[in-house]
Amino acid sequence: MKIAFHFLNASAFIFLYLNNIAFAQDDAEKIFQETCVACHTIGKGKLIGPDLANIQNRHPEDWLIKFIKSSQTVINSGDKYADSLFKAYNQIPMPDHPKLSDGQIKALLAYISEKSLAPATATASVELPPGNSKRGQELFVGSIRFANSGAACNSCHNVEMQGYLSGGALGKDLTHAVTRLSASGVAGIISGLPFPQMKETYTSHPVTPQEIADVTAFLISVDKQAPEQVTSTVGNYLFAGGISGLIVLLGLYSFFWIKRKKRPVNFSVFRRQIKSV
Ligand code: HEC
Ligand code: HEC
Repeated sequence: MKIAFHFLNASAFIFLYLNNIAFAQDDAEKIFQETCVACHTIGKGKLIGPDLANIQNRHPEDWLIKFIKSSQTVINSGDKYADSLFKAYNQIPMPDHPKLSDGQIKALLAYISEKSLAPATATASVELPPGNSKRGQELFVGSIRFANSGAACNSCHNVEMQGYLSGGALGKDLTHAVTRLSASGVAGIISGLPFPQMKETYTSHPVTPQEIADVTAFLISVDKQAPEQVTSTVGNYLFAGGISGLIVLLGLYSFFWIKRKKRPVNFSVFRRQIKSV
Protein backbone atom coordinates (compact mmCIF):
# COMPACT_ATOMS: atom_id res chain seq x y z
CA MET A 1 0.00 0.00 0.00
CA LYS A 2 2.66 2.39 1.09
CA ILE A 3 4.86 1.38 -1.78
CA ALA A 4 2.06 1.87 -4.24
CA PHE A 5 1.54 5.33 -2.85
CA HIS A 6 5.18 6.20 -3.26
CA PHE A 7 5.11 4.84 -6.71
CA LEU A 8 2.16 7.00 -7.63
CA ASN A 9 3.76 9.95 -6.06
CA ALA A 10 7.00 9.43 -7.85
CA SER A 11 5.40 8.86 -11.19
CA ALA A 12 3.29 11.97 -10.77
CA PHE A 13 6.44 13.85 -9.98
CA ILE A 14 8.28 12.42 -12.96
CA PHE A 15 5.35 13.15 -15.18
CA LEU A 16 5.20 16.77 -14.07
CA TYR A 17 8.94 17.07 -14.31
CA LEU A 18 9.11 15.69 -17.84
CA ASN A 19 6.19 17.80 -18.82
CA ASN A 20 8.01 20.83 -17.58
CA ILE A 21 11.12 19.99 -19.51
CA ALA A 22 9.14 19.44 -22.67
CA PHE A 23 7.46 22.74 -22.09
CA ALA A 24 10.71 24.62 -21.62
CA GLN A 25 12.10 22.92 -24.73
CA ASP A 26 9.18 23.97 -26.91
CA ASP A 27 9.49 27.43 -25.56
CA ALA A 28 13.22 27.55 -26.25
CA GLU A 29 12.78 26.25 -29.77
CA LYS A 30 10.17 28.90 -30.41
CA ILE A 31 12.39 31.65 -29.02
CA PHE A 32 15.31 30.42 -31.09
CA GLN A 33 13.26 30.28 -34.29
CA GLU A 34 11.75 33.69 -33.70
CA THR A 35 14.70 35.65 -32.38
CA CYS A 36 18.00 34.03 -33.25
CA VAL A 37 17.63 32.02 -36.44
CA ALA A 38 17.94 35.00 -38.77
CA CYS A 39 21.55 35.43 -37.72
CA HIS A 40 22.73 32.14 -36.22
CA THR A 41 22.76 28.47 -37.14
CA ILE A 42 23.47 25.55 -34.83
CA GLY A 43 26.08 23.54 -36.66
CA LYS A 44 25.46 24.86 -40.17
CA GLY A 45 28.19 27.45 -40.27
CA LYS A 46 28.25 31.14 -39.72
CA LEU A 47 25.51 33.36 -40.98
CA ILE A 48 25.45 36.98 -39.78
CA GLY A 49 26.68 35.88 -36.39
CA PRO A 50 28.84 32.87 -35.43
CA ASP A 51 27.65 29.28 -35.52
CA LEU A 52 26.29 28.58 -32.05
CA ALA A 53 27.01 24.82 -31.99
CA ASN A 54 28.55 23.87 -28.65
CA ILE A 55 28.56 27.47 -27.56
CA GLN A 56 28.46 26.35 -23.94
CA ASN A 57 31.91 24.84 -24.30
CA ARG A 58 33.23 28.20 -25.33
CA HIS A 59 31.86 30.40 -22.52
CA PRO A 60 30.63 30.17 -18.95
CA GLU A 61 26.87 30.32 -18.61
CA ASP A 62 26.77 33.67 -16.82
CA TRP A 63 28.84 35.24 -19.60
CA LEU A 64 26.40 33.86 -22.18
CA ILE A 65 23.41 35.18 -20.27
CA LYS A 66 24.91 38.65 -20.07
CA PHE A 67 25.97 38.60 -23.70
CA ILE A 68 22.61 37.45 -25.01
CA LYS A 69 20.78 40.06 -22.94
CA SER A 70 23.01 42.86 -24.12
CA SER A 71 26.12 42.10 -26.16
CA GLN A 72 27.05 45.75 -26.39
CA THR A 73 27.12 46.07 -22.60
CA VAL A 74 29.62 43.21 -22.48
CA ILE A 75 31.67 44.70 -25.31
CA ASN A 76 31.69 48.14 -23.70
CA SER A 77 32.71 46.69 -20.36
CA GLY A 78 36.14 46.05 -21.89
CA ASP A 79 35.72 42.31 -22.47
CA LYS A 80 38.54 41.58 -24.93
CA TYR A 81 36.99 38.51 -26.46
CA ALA A 82 33.62 40.22 -27.03
CA ASP A 83 35.32 43.22 -28.54
CA SER A 84 37.36 41.16 -31.00
CA LEU A 85 34.32 39.09 -31.91
CA PHE A 86 32.39 42.27 -32.62
CA LYS A 87 35.21 43.51 -34.88
CA ALA A 88 35.48 40.14 -36.60
CA TYR A 89 31.78 40.35 -37.42
CA ASN A 90 32.07 43.73 -39.13
CA GLN A 91 30.81 45.53 -36.05
CA ILE A 92 27.32 44.32 -36.63
CA PRO A 93 25.69 44.77 -33.25
CA MET A 94 23.66 41.83 -32.06
CA PRO A 95 20.30 43.23 -30.89
CA ASP A 96 19.67 43.28 -27.14
CA HIS A 97 17.16 40.83 -25.72
CA PRO A 98 16.10 42.54 -22.48
CA LYS A 99 12.83 40.64 -22.36
CA LEU A 100 14.43 37.19 -22.10
CA SER A 101 14.65 35.99 -18.50
CA ASP A 102 17.67 34.09 -17.15
CA GLY A 103 15.48 30.98 -17.13
CA GLN A 104 14.51 31.40 -20.76
CA ILE A 105 18.13 31.91 -21.76
CA LYS A 106 19.14 28.78 -19.86
CA ALA A 107 16.45 26.83 -21.68
CA LEU A 108 17.68 28.35 -24.93
CA LEU A 109 21.24 27.23 -24.16
CA ALA A 110 20.02 23.74 -23.30
CA TYR A 111 18.17 23.67 -26.62
CA ILE A 112 21.30 24.82 -28.46
CA SER A 113 23.48 22.18 -26.84
CA GLU A 114 20.93 19.47 -27.60
CA LYS A 115 20.83 20.55 -31.25
CA SER A 116 24.62 20.68 -31.32
CA LEU A 117 24.75 16.94 -30.69
CA ALA A 118 22.00 15.81 -33.02
CA PRO A 119 22.50 16.67 -36.66
CA ALA A 120 20.32 19.71 -37.16
CA THR A 121 16.90 19.03 -38.56
CA ALA A 122 15.58 22.57 -38.34
CA THR A 123 16.04 24.53 -41.53
CA ALA A 124 18.17 27.42 -40.45
CA SER A 125 19.00 29.14 -43.67
CA VAL A 126 16.45 30.03 -46.28
CA GLU A 127 16.06 27.94 -49.40
CA LEU A 128 15.30 30.38 -52.18
CA PRO A 129 14.23 30.18 -55.81
CA PRO A 130 16.53 31.90 -58.34
CA GLY A 131 16.19 35.68 -58.09
CA ASN A 132 15.58 38.28 -60.77
CA SER A 133 17.62 41.36 -60.02
CA LYS A 134 15.60 43.70 -62.26
CA ARG A 135 12.40 42.80 -60.48
CA GLY A 136 14.28 43.08 -57.21
CA GLN A 137 15.23 46.63 -58.09
CA GLU A 138 11.64 47.54 -58.89
CA LEU A 139 10.49 46.09 -55.59
CA PHE A 140 13.29 47.80 -53.70
CA VAL A 141 12.50 51.27 -55.02
CA GLY A 142 8.74 50.72 -54.96
CA SER A 143 7.97 50.97 -58.68
CA ILE A 144 6.15 47.67 -58.27
CA ARG A 145 4.42 46.64 -55.09
CA PHE A 146 5.20 43.66 -52.88
CA ALA A 147 2.51 40.97 -53.18
CA ASN A 148 1.46 41.49 -49.56
CA SER A 149 1.80 45.28 -49.80
CA GLY A 150 4.84 45.63 -47.52
CA ALA A 151 6.68 48.95 -47.67
CA ALA A 152 9.37 49.44 -50.33
CA CYS A 153 12.83 48.89 -48.90
CA ASN A 154 13.93 52.35 -50.01
CA SER A 155 11.54 54.00 -47.59
CA CYS A 156 14.18 53.14 -45.00
CA HIS A 157 17.33 52.18 -46.91
CA ASN A 158 19.51 53.79 -49.51
CA VAL A 159 21.66 52.16 -52.20
CA GLU A 160 24.28 53.81 -54.42
CA MET A 161 23.26 53.31 -58.01
CA GLN A 162 23.40 55.36 -61.16
CA GLY A 163 20.34 57.44 -61.89
CA TYR A 164 18.80 56.82 -58.51
CA LEU A 165 18.33 59.72 -56.15
CA SER A 166 18.25 58.42 -52.62
CA GLY A 167 16.32 56.21 -50.30
CA GLY A 168 15.43 56.66 -46.65
CA ALA A 169 17.86 56.80 -43.81
CA LEU A 170 16.23 54.94 -40.96
CA GLY A 171 18.14 51.77 -41.85
CA LYS A 172 21.72 51.35 -43.05
CA ASP A 173 22.84 52.04 -46.56
CA LEU A 174 22.60 48.65 -48.32
CA THR A 175 24.98 49.25 -51.23
CA HIS A 176 27.50 46.83 -49.80
CA ALA A 177 25.19 44.83 -47.60
CA VAL A 178 26.13 41.67 -49.50
CA THR A 179 29.84 42.23 -48.86
CA ARG A 180 29.10 42.89 -45.20
CA LEU A 181 26.64 40.10 -44.57
CA SER A 182 26.85 37.66 -47.51
CA ALA A 183 23.90 37.04 -49.82
CA SER A 184 22.38 34.41 -47.55
CA GLY A 185 22.81 36.79 -44.63
CA VAL A 186 20.81 39.45 -46.46
CA ALA A 187 18.12 36.95 -47.42
CA GLY A 188 18.08 35.75 -43.82
CA ILE A 189 17.41 39.29 -42.61
CA ILE A 190 14.53 39.85 -45.02
CA SER A 191 12.90 36.58 -44.03
CA GLY A 192 13.82 36.44 -40.34
CA LEU A 193 13.32 40.15 -39.56
CA PRO A 194 15.74 40.45 -36.63
CA PHE A 195 15.41 44.23 -36.51
CA PRO A 196 12.39 45.69 -34.72
CA GLN A 197 11.52 48.28 -37.36
CA MET A 198 11.54 45.71 -40.13
CA LYS A 199 9.60 43.26 -38.01
CA GLU A 200 6.90 45.84 -37.46
CA THR A 201 6.75 46.62 -41.14
CA TYR A 202 6.73 43.12 -42.60
CA THR A 203 5.24 40.72 -40.06
CA SER A 204 1.73 41.49 -41.18
CA HIS A 205 2.87 42.05 -44.80
CA PRO A 206 5.29 39.19 -45.39
CA VAL A 207 7.74 39.34 -48.26
CA THR A 208 7.37 36.17 -50.35
CA PRO A 209 10.34 33.81 -50.96
CA GLN A 210 10.42 34.83 -54.62
CA GLU A 211 10.52 38.50 -53.63
CA ILE A 212 13.28 37.82 -51.11
CA ALA A 213 15.26 36.12 -53.87
CA ASP A 214 14.65 39.03 -56.27
CA VAL A 215 15.64 41.75 -53.81
CA THR A 216 18.70 39.75 -52.77
CA ALA A 217 19.71 39.33 -56.44
CA PHE A 218 19.34 43.09 -56.84
CA LEU A 219 21.52 43.79 -53.81
CA ILE A 220 24.14 41.37 -55.16
CA SER A 221 24.26 43.31 -58.42
CA VAL A 222 24.44 46.70 -56.65
CA ASP A 223 27.20 45.39 -54.45
CA LYS A 224 29.24 44.33 -57.50
CA GLN A 225 28.62 47.44 -59.52
CA ALA A 226 29.04 50.19 -56.92
CA PRO A 227 32.49 51.45 -56.05
CA GLU A 228 33.91 50.27 -52.75
CA GLN A 229 33.28 53.07 -50.25
CA VAL A 230 31.85 53.91 -46.90
CA THR A 231 28.36 55.13 -47.53
CA SER A 232 26.49 54.48 -44.37
CA THR A 233 26.42 58.05 -43.09
CA VAL A 234 24.99 59.71 -46.18
CA GLY A 235 21.30 59.19 -45.73
CA ASN A 236 21.09 60.35 -42.14
CA TYR A 237 21.21 63.96 -43.14
CA LEU A 238 18.61 63.85 -45.85
CA PHE A 239 15.89 64.29 -43.29
CA ALA A 240 17.39 67.54 -42.10
CA GLY A 241 18.49 69.29 -45.25
CA GLY A 242 18.46 69.16 -49.02
CA ILE A 243 21.23 67.70 -51.05
CA SER A 244 23.27 70.91 -50.95
CA GLY A 245 22.97 71.03 -47.19
CA LEU A 246 24.05 67.46 -47.25
CA ILE A 247 27.26 68.19 -49.08
CA VAL A 248 28.12 71.02 -46.68
CA LEU A 249 27.27 68.89 -43.68
CA LEU A 250 29.28 65.96 -44.91
CA GLY A 251 32.23 68.25 -45.52
CA LEU A 252 31.98 69.62 -42.00
CA TYR A 253 31.38 66.21 -40.65
CA SER A 254 34.49 64.68 -42.05
CA PHE A 255 36.48 67.74 -41.07
CA PHE A 256 35.49 67.88 -37.41
CA TRP A 257 34.67 64.33 -36.66
CA ILE A 258 37.29 62.50 -38.59
CA LYS A 259 39.04 61.38 -35.43
CA ARG A 260 35.85 60.09 -33.92
CA LYS A 261 34.70 57.90 -36.74
CA LYS A 262 35.71 54.75 -34.96
CA ARG A 263 32.32 53.18 -35.19
CA PRO A 264 29.68 53.32 -37.86
CA VAL A 265 27.47 56.32 -37.19
CA ASN A 266 24.50 54.04 -37.50
CA PHE A 267 25.65 52.24 -34.45
CA SER A 268 24.35 54.95 -32.14
CA VAL A 269 21.22 55.39 -34.24
CA PHE A 270 20.66 51.69 -33.97
CA ARG A 271 21.06 51.69 -30.21
CA ARG A 272 18.66 54.58 -29.82
CA GLN A 273 16.14 52.76 -31.97
CA ILE A 274 16.50 49.55 -30.08
CA LYS A 275 16.06 51.43 -26.79
CA SER A 276 12.98 53.24 -27.96
CA VAL A 277 11.17 50.06 -28.93
C1 HEC B 1 20.80 40.65 -36.11
C2 HEC B 1 21.55 39.44 -35.99
C3 HEC B 1 21.59 38.68 -34.67
C4 HEC B 1 20.54 38.18 -33.94
C5 HEC B 1 19.05 38.34 -34.22
C6 HEC B 1 21.12 37.43 -32.86
N1 HEC B 1 22.49 37.50 -32.92
FE1 HEC B 1 23.81 36.58 -31.67
N2 HEC B 1 25.36 37.47 -32.68
C7 HEC B 1 25.24 38.27 -33.79
C8 HEC B 1 26.56 38.76 -34.17
C9 HEC B 1 26.85 39.67 -35.36
C10 HEC B 1 27.46 38.23 -33.25
C11 HEC B 1 28.97 38.46 -33.20
C12 HEC B 1 29.29 39.47 -32.12
C13 HEC B 1 28.87 40.87 -32.44
O1 HEC B 1 28.99 41.31 -33.59
O2 HEC B 1 28.41 41.56 -31.50
C14 HEC B 1 26.67 37.41 -32.32
C15 HEC B 1 27.22 36.67 -31.26
C16 HEC B 1 26.51 35.81 -30.46
C17 HEC B 1 27.08 34.96 -29.43
C18 HEC B 1 28.57 34.81 -29.12
C19 HEC B 1 29.10 33.75 -30.05
C20 HEC B 1 30.55 33.37 -29.86
O3 HEC B 1 31.09 32.71 -30.78
O4 HEC B 1 31.16 33.69 -28.86
C21 HEC B 1 26.05 34.29 -28.86
C22 HEC B 1 26.15 33.29 -27.74
C23 HEC B 1 24.84 34.71 -29.51
N3 HEC B 1 25.16 35.64 -30.47
C24 HEC B 1 23.58 34.23 -29.20
C25 HEC B 1 22.40 34.71 -29.75
C26 HEC B 1 21.09 34.26 -29.35
C27 HEC B 1 20.82 33.20 -28.33
C28 HEC B 1 20.19 34.97 -30.10
C29 HEC B 1 18.67 34.91 -30.03
C30 HEC B 1 18.09 35.18 -28.74
C31 HEC B 1 20.95 35.86 -30.98
N4 HEC B 1 22.27 35.66 -30.73
C32 HEC B 1 20.39 36.73 -31.90
C33 HEC B 1 24.08 38.57 -34.45
C34 HEC B 1 22.81 38.26 -34.01
C1 HEC C 1 10.57 50.63 -41.68
C2 HEC C 1 11.89 50.78 -42.13
C3 HEC C 1 12.57 49.62 -42.87
C4 HEC C 1 12.14 49.01 -44.03
C5 HEC C 1 10.89 49.31 -44.83
C6 HEC C 1 13.17 48.04 -44.37
N1 HEC C 1 14.17 48.07 -43.44
FE1 HEC C 1 15.85 46.93 -43.43
N2 HEC C 1 16.42 47.74 -41.66
C7 HEC C 1 15.76 48.74 -40.99
C8 HEC C 1 16.49 49.05 -39.76
C9 HEC C 1 16.11 50.12 -38.76
C10 HEC C 1 17.58 48.16 -39.71
C11 HEC C 1 18.58 47.92 -38.55
C12 HEC C 1 19.79 48.71 -38.42
C13 HEC C 1 20.32 49.41 -39.62
O1 HEC C 1 20.63 48.76 -40.63
O2 HEC C 1 20.43 50.63 -39.53
C14 HEC C 1 17.53 47.38 -40.95
C15 HEC C 1 18.50 46.45 -41.30
C16 HEC C 1 18.58 45.83 -42.54
C17 HEC C 1 19.68 45.04 -43.00
C18 HEC C 1 20.98 44.79 -42.25
C19 HEC C 1 21.93 45.90 -42.57
C20 HEC C 1 23.30 45.76 -41.98
O3 HEC C 1 24.26 45.89 -42.71
O4 HEC C 1 23.38 45.50 -40.77
C21 HEC C 1 19.36 44.59 -44.26
C22 HEC C 1 20.20 43.72 -45.18
C23 HEC C 1 18.04 45.11 -44.58
N3 HEC C 1 17.61 45.86 -43.51
C24 HEC C 1 17.36 44.86 -45.76
C25 HEC C 1 16.11 45.36 -46.07
C26 HEC C 1 15.38 45.04 -47.27
C27 HEC C 1 15.91 44.20 -48.41
C28 HEC C 1 14.18 45.70 -47.20
C29 HEC C 1 13.02 45.60 -48.18
C30 HEC C 1 12.43 44.29 -48.32
C31 HEC C 1 14.16 46.42 -45.94
N4 HEC C 1 15.34 46.19 -45.27
C32 HEC C 1 13.12 47.24 -45.50
C33 HEC C 1 14.60 49.38 -41.39
C34 HEC C 1 13.83 49.02 -42.50
